[in-house]
Order: sequence, then structure tokens, then C-alpha cells
Amino acid sequence: MKEHLALLETLSDGRFHSGETLGERLGVTRAAVWKQLRALRKQGLAIHAVRGRGYQLAYPIDLLRVEDIFDQLSNSSRQLIPRIDVFPELDSTNTYLKMHAAKEGLSGTACLAELQSAGRGRQGRTWVSPFGCNLYLSLLWRFDSGPGSLVGLSLVIGVALARALRAHVSRDIGLKWPNDVLWQGQKLAGILVEIAGEAIGPSYAVIGVGINVRMPDASGETIGQPWTDIYRITGRMPSRNALAAFVLEEFTAVLRVFEQHGLPAFLDEWRELDAMAGRTVQLHLPDGVIAGQAQGIDDKGALMILVENELRHFASGEVSLRMSP
Ligand code: BTN
Repeated sequence: MKEHLALLETLSDGRFHSGETLGERLGVTRAAVWKQLRALRKQGLAIHAVRGRGYQLAYPIDLLRVEDIFDQLSNSSRQLIPRIDVFPELDSTNTYLKMHAAKEGLSGTACLAELQSAGRGRQGRTWVSPFGCNLYLSLLWRFDSGPGSLVGLSLVIGVALARALRAHVSRDIGLKWPNDVLWQGQKLAGILVEIAGEAIGPSYAVIGVGINVRMPDASGETIGQPWTDIYRITGRMPSRNALAAFVLEEFTAVLRVFEQHGLPAFLDEWRELDAMAGRTVQLHLPDGVIAGQAQGIDDKGALMILVENELRHFASGEVSLRMSP
């Protein structure tokens, strides 16, 4: 992908460019341009070719840019986010930051990629991550305390993401325990929080979020659950740089409060966002499936389900919640 970036930068305006102009700008032959275009199409990018006019992206792309994101952060967030790395392609932004953490990487380092070749979801699932059309963003955050004190962090990050998306996409956003972001029952965004550290501290979290912004149909077909994206909800393609800044802004805001007060400071807000409370659900456990009525979360963030008149509590981790068909 890296070698195709110059071509993409030219095409990202959504206008027509002839093969000749593209070749001149890139300093390569027209045949080489054609080869690169073919490779980009293989990555899922829709590129129109019209005789006599040249090549055009099906829609303009605002490529991710460190300065654009940084410029849209408040002063207080800038102080907490010393570094933003943007890559055309990575295996996974979470994996990258975990390696960065192991090399003494600074707390507050953010990482984004235009494409993830091995994007990871919860419970070992794949996160579908085609080029240039969605947001794949991770943030490294260090804590003085041990991993045990981070119980509930993934729910709190769900609150932050819901805040950002409610303010900039739709009021109709809800959360499905522990932290799927839904719009009218369809998945709009997912969160993968990975925690490591010493039992008595320090510890760190890599907070990864994937937001479907404008998922190409072909990529969407490979997602094994109902999903949506911002373009389908609003009819508009938002600036992904602005969206990244909004999300980082909300992340730093909740992380500051979480460090001081933990999950209790967010319980009421999580419960207001709960899209499943009162609904009949199925819980997929490692050893089987149970059905019951979702009853929200307890004060530790565990999911409560009424199963045959017994209220049972399930801690996050190995369970997956589905709406009953
Ligand atoms: C889920 O299964 O709902 C969690 C999806 C998390 C996806 C994001 S995309 C950025 C970061 N890098 C990854 O490999 N995964 C997370």
C-alpha cells in the first residue's frame, strides 16, 4: 500500500486524472500507473476508468493526516497525546501499540492506519478493515496501578465512543454490553481493550476502536452480523480526521475521570445508553448458550440476566451477547 500512496493522494480529490498526468506526477510509465490502479482495486477501492478522461475514485477520500487530527484537538488533549502515528497499512493498530508499549512507548501515543491486514475484533474475531473508508484507531494509556484496577475500562471507553458518535452522527446510538456501539440494533463500531502489567502496577491498556464510516459493499458482505456505517446513517461522508480528533478528545476526557474515580463515575451514563436492557437475549458462553432477559449491568460492570427467575451476573471476557431472533 505504501508504494501506492502517491497515486492515492492524487486521486483522493475524487476528480478525473489521465493516465499520462498520473504517470508524470509519479515519475513512472503509464503501464506502471495501470498496475498500481489494479492493485488498489484489489484492496477494495472503487476506481472508475472513462475513455478520454482517465481515472477517478468513486468518491473522494480524506486521507488521514497527523497534523489535521492534532490541529483539531483541544490544548488539554494535546498535552495528553504526545504522539500520533498514521500508517497507510498495518497488520493491526492494537498490535503496533502493544509492541510500542513493550519498547517503553509513551502513554498517550495514538496510532491510525488506512488499512489493517489483520484487524482484530473481540474473542479472536477478524475486524474487516479495508483501505481509506473507515477508522481504525488505537491509543496507548499507562496506569500507575495494576490491571485489577482497570475493571470496567472497556465499558467506560464505550461511553466515550457513544458520546462522540451521538454528538457527531446520530442521537440514536446505544451500547450492547460490554461495549459494542449500535445504531438501531446494527453494529456501527467495536472496541478492543487489551491490558497488561504487573499485579501491583504499573499497567497499560491499548484501547482500539474500529468505526464503520463508509464500508464498501464487497467488504461488508464478509461481516457476520448486522452492521451499518456513518454514510448509511447520515447520507454524508464525514471527515475521518475530524472524527478521529472527536474520539480522542472523548477518550482523554473519560480516562482522566476513570483514573480518579473508576467505573462508578460512568455507571449511570452506561445504563442510559444500554440498548439491550429488558430484551430477550442469548448469551454465548464457552460451554453453551443460555437465554434470558437482559437486566443491565451491576456496579462492577458485569452483565445481569434473568434466567428462569434467577438473576445471574456475567463478567466480561468470554461471553458474547446476541439479541434473540
Ligand atoms: C469488536 O470485536 O467489536 C472489536 C473491534 C475492534 C477493532 C479495532 S480497529 C483498531 C484496533 N486494531 C485492531 O486490530 N482492532 C481494533
